[in-house]
Amino acid sequence: MNDQYVTEPALASLFEFARKAALYSYSPYSGFRVGAALRLSNGEIVTGTNVENASYGLSICAERSALARAVSEFGPEIRIVAVAVTNLNNAPSPPCGACRQVLSEFTLPEAPVRFSAAGEPLTMPFSELLPQAFAIKAK
Ligand code: THU
Repeated sequence: MNDQYVTEPALASLFEFARKAALYSYSPYSGFRVGAALRLSNGEIVTGTNVENASYGLSICAERSALARAVSEFGPEIRIVAVAVTNLNNAPSPPCGACRQVLSEFTLPEAPVRFSAAGEPLTMPFSELLPQAFAIKAK
């Protein structure tokens, strides 16, 4: 299956995967429970949650947890065709700047990103979240 085009039901389902992933959050310091779900071009869905550390700066965000898992499970050729991010705190949770940069390595510019916002979740193409992404052409 090679579905670059992501339907609304697929996006809604991805968002639900993200919500479920947040249930496993390890966030004793912030109490902010985040879940992320990535849809890959091969149709696979990979989730992640935030994993905090007593040395706060070593905490890893849900999006980067999911990405590391995706590459580890499916290899370096993966392409992300959709992203969902939410939290269990009824708060907005757009991907942070660091996660946008890390995701940009594998995410199609047109990939829809759905994230919790004030009110209804927002959905926008990845390129709108990170215009002019920094990249180095692989040798
Ligand atoms: N966090 C994420 O998981 N994703 C983001 O994009 C922003 C922040 C986590 C990191 C930390 O565990 C908690 O949210 C509060 O910053």
